[in-house]
Amino acid sequence: MFNTKSVLLLTALACLGLSSAAYAKDNVPAPIPESLKNAPFKIEGVDGFLKSLGVDEISQAKQFTKKELRTMAETNYNDKTAQHFMSVHANRGVGCLSCHDQSQIQGVSWMAYISNPQMKQDCQSCHTVQADVFKHADTHSKVDCIACHMPNMPLPELYTNDQSKVAATALYRAHMYKINPSPDKSSYVKEEVEMDGKKVSRYVLAKDENGNDYIDLMWSCARNAPADWTVFEGKGCHSQYTSKLEEGLVYKDQKQVYGELMNWQNPIKDGYKEIVGATERINKLLEVTRLDRDQRTQVLSYVDLATNIADMIEKDGSWGAHANNYLTQRLAAAQNYVRKAQEILDKGEFSKKAVNPLK
Ligand code: HEC
Ligand code: HEC
Ligand code: HEC
Repeated sequence: MFNTKSVLLLTALACLGLSSAAYAKDNVPAPIPESLKNAPFKIEGVDGFLKSLGVDEISQAKQFTKKELRTMAETNYNDKTAQHFMSVHANRGVGCLSCHDQSQIQGVSWMAYISNPQMKQDCQSCHTVQADVFKHADTHSKVDCIACHMPNMPLPELYTNDQSKVAATALYRAHMYKINPSPDKSSYVKEEVEMDGKKVSRYVLAKDENGNDYIDLMWSCARNAPADWTVFEGKGCHSQYTSKLEEGLVYKDQKQVYGELMNWQNPIKDGYKEIVGATERINKLLEVTRLDRDQRTQVLSYVDLATNIADMIEKDGSWGAHANNYLTQRLAAAQNYVRKAQEILDKGEFSKKAVNPLK
């Protein structure tokens, strides 16, 4: 459901070239990140990992040597694991096998670049609020969750700051999930490390204030990842290098992406705050205003309706990125509910003059 076979093939072919250049040549397995030494799976060797999943045969994909497969699998596994273990999903106990179906693993192919790993659950099965909101998507109705939340990205060691050059390495389905809505935060940062007695600087995954990794706005919306060409009916995303969208929808830098996102998010955030403030004031007024039972019931139902809408918007957490028109309409409805509630209160005995609950 997430992707097409052809794109995987494309990705696979490109990846094979890459992996042999980067790793297979000297058969040096990717190093195990320090943070993963105590990971729940044994990852010292791929065999151990496969055994821990009940798979100990590397026989299926005959076109590769065993060594090649091991290297591919280990690189990809380490990459996914390193990313995943820095995410909120990992903190909350969502693991590889929450999403992937281990009973469908065919040899090593589950972890190899060539695979389209079988899914056990999709995003919607846990994120029901987002799924409901996203059903009303307009602009992005033709893309899926992973198009924005799990783009194809380079391994940190293959990353370069130059968007025009990263295309060939942006082949790995990111497992970071969280989109960081900042104008200048990048998913990769430079770090100084000691290598053979020398100080070298290399790229690593950035962390936010909670220690979690994230997809920056450029990678989420305007990345240069040809492997993602299927996004939006073969038109690509908003990248200046690959997009086939109209001129105005092609974004040159992260500030521009940020500006577009804020055009969506700010009105929804403002509207949300207005409704929350209004319902709080109405609840206070209810305590000091004498109303008959019908009026009180009506006020309470309007407040409930407005609160439900505000809760839905907060739980969705995209502030309009998932379905902007829909959330704008729901906010308008919530505004009407609180105005109605206020009108009834204004008729009550203790409120002296009409109050606009939204101000
Ligand atoms: C929240 C759900 C989720 C979790 C958790 C998850 N994955 Fe994935 N994974 C996906 C999705 C979605 C894809 C893309 C599938 C597609 O393209 O059809 C994917 C793709 C992959 C691929 C294919 C290679 C690639 O780069 O495209 C590998 C390998 C993989 N996952 C390994 C892992 C490992 C290892 C873990 C645990 C460390 C993990 N996944 C955790 C959802 C998840
Ligand atoms: C097994 C259930 C499950 C699945 C499947 C799942 N998630 Fe999550 N997700 C969670 C939980 C639990 C959290 C923690 C926050 C919460 O309680 O909502 C979370 C949090 C998130 C966050 C917020 C992360 C943060 O840093 O705040 C994002 C974004 C997200 N998921 C995206 C996805 C995407 C995209 C998929 C599909 C590829 C997916 N999730 C699949 C359970 C799941
Ligand atoms: C068009 C791109 C796009 C698509 C498609 C998309 N999202 Fe999002 N999503 C976002 C953005 C942008 C945010 C807001 C991030 C922020 O401001 O912190 C967000 C927020 C979220 C959050 C809130 C947690 C957080 O703070 O990041 C979750 C969970 C989430 N999305 C899951 C999903 C799921 C599930 C789907 C598919 C049903 C989906 N998204 C589809 C762009 C997208």
